[in-house]
Amino acid sequence: MAFSESFLDELIARNDIVDVVGSYVQLTKRSGSNQFGLCPFHNEKTPSFSVSSDKQIYHCFGCGKGGGVINFIMEIEGLSFRDAVEFLAKRSGMQMPEDDVPPEQRGRRQRLLELNKDAARFFYENLSRPEGQAALEYINRRGISKAMVKRFGLGYALDGWHNLIEAMTLKGYSKRDLLEAGLAKEKKGSVYDVFRNRLMFPVIDIRGSVVAFSGRIIGEGEPKYLNSPDTPVFSKSRNLFALNLAKKSKAGMLILAEGNVDVVSLHQAGFDCAVASLGTALTREQVKLMERYTENVVLAYDADAAGVKAAQRAISLFENTGINVKVLKIPDGKDPDEFIKKHGSDSFRVLLEQSDNHIDYRIMAIMGKYDLNTDEGKIGFLHEATQMLSGLNSSIEREVYGAKVAQYAGVTPEAVKLEVGKAFKRRLRQEKRQAERSEMRVENTYQPDDQSIRYKNVRSAAAEEGVIRLLLLDGGLIRSVGDLKGSEFSAPFLGAVFDKICEKLRAHETVTVSSLAAQLEPAQASRLSVIIGKPEVLSEAEKSMADYIDKIRTEQIRSRGEQDLLAISKKYRQTKGYGEHNG
Ligand code: GTP
Ligand code: MN
Repeated sequence: MAFSESFLDELIARNDIVDVVGSYVQLTKRSGSNQFGLCPFHNEKTPSFSVSSDKQIYHCFGCGKGGGVINFIMEIEGLSFRDAVEFLAKRSGMQMPEDDVPPEQRGRRQRLLELNKDAARFFYENLSRPEGQAALEYINRRGISKAMVKRFGLGYALDGWHNLIEAMTLKGYSKRDLLEAGLAKEKKGSVYDVFRNRLMFPVIDIRGSVVAFSGRIIGEGEPKYLNSPDTPVFSKSRNLFALNLAKKSKAGMLILAEGNVDVVSLHQAGFDCAVASLGTALTREQVKLMERYTENVVLAYDADAAGVKAAQRAISLFENTGINVKVLKIPDGKDPDEFIKKHGSDSFRVLLEQSDNHIDYRIMAIMGKYDLNTDEGKIGFLHEATQMLSGLNSSIEREVYGAKVAQYAGVTPEAVKLEVGKAFKRRLRQEKRQAERSEMRVENTYQPDDQSIRYKNVRSAAAEEGVIRLLLLDGGLIRSVGDLKGSEFSAPFLGAVFDKICEKLRAHETVTVSSLAAQLEPAQASRLSVIIGKPEVLSEAEKSMADYIDKIRTEQIRSRGEQDLLAISKKYRQTKGYGEHNG
């Protein structure tokens, strides 16, 4: 995906990395033009994550992740390069260029999008043909207005095997185009239309391109819905049906429904902020997509068991996001569409206002599983509910909802509070263990496999390796090492290697890995080759060198500090008479 250099330059200039990173990571410590914070990509207690305003890059000396502002957004938002660029363009009010893909791919993407647009038009026009009358009747029967047909671009795939293929071939599209767009399939050498005799819902992305289709059978039958497969222009898990319309809504929220028909029905009733996931369970990517547009999501899933389950699953995806999620409960009937048909849009608005925040919803969901008239049921309910409440980080929430749970189970609030408190502490302990394990994992990736050269301080050793790597890549950098000495290194053999390299470079001799390796133990020599093999950006080598040295010295101070603290506390214990010898 090639954006023009000037576009990317401006994008990077307009998105200062310190600002961008600063909205995700609290940057506190400063050293020169670098700021430090806790790395968002791995668990740590001391800041190893640095952001340089000079270089406009970030780097974690702990886990090794690093790059520019675009890499950061890709990593933290889980976006592709293209989408990260779009994300930053949006953030800084820049228009995306049309020609943001290389000619060959631009051709393909563009072609598929044009085909989709032409197909959508063909489906739409079918509604006015005699063969499309059954579809039109179905639309009327479902109470979908003409205005909605137009707004959503609904259409009809004729009942036959080649209608679309023929029409699109006449327009100059090839078999390959139709197959790649997921509009045709091939079997034993012959191609046929994927969508036949179906009510067609075009899926339009946030840029307004038709990227896919969802086709509902006319009347009864299986499968009820047929959706486009993932194609070069469509990823099911990264799109939401009707987001192209809902993103313009002034409602200040998004309503997430299950069905396409529900969405159309909601828009028709004036709820222009309704969207649906495309026939699959909600994904994290879709949640991220919503997060770009709103802080409030109301789940309006079907009232049946499957809908309740899907809602509960969805709720968990909103945890730890910037979105406040509520769940709307449809008292009778099945889905938003039927409710609105039966009771009108004002009643739906009331439901919307009454929608519970999700904690209530989860309590209800747990309650539904137990018979509270029996002791056994009460215990089961209390057990599960306290477990759930212990997952809340706010003590106020734990208290308020704890009281509710107590009331439902007919026990005292104090009893529930006690249990929740215990479970909460247990959870904190578990999380701490998990954090430690994850620190261990980082540790392991930088820890040599060979036991004989295990690093005592992996963070420092990673920086020590960096210094060596830089010197071996560019001997001229000897000017940047200042008065750093091998004795300051946490790993003795790295210190020895460093001293040897400096000695040679200062004597204007050439240093080769093989000559260094010759003087090392086998395990150390092979480690040296690993060190050399790791990537390093040489264009900013002097700065990297400074950062590595900085890290080595910070770690030095830290470990010395820990030792001092140990000594001080030992002394204190002894003077106070708490020494080990006294028991
Ligand atoms: P109506 O029955 O016409 O009211 O449909 P609906 O839009 O309300 O859909 P429903 O609640 O039955 O299903 C919710 C969503 O799940 C649909 O909009 C589809 O996206 C998806 N879905 C339903 N049935 C199928 C199916 O048979 N195949 C696939 N792939 N998706 C389906
Ligand atoms: Mn429905």
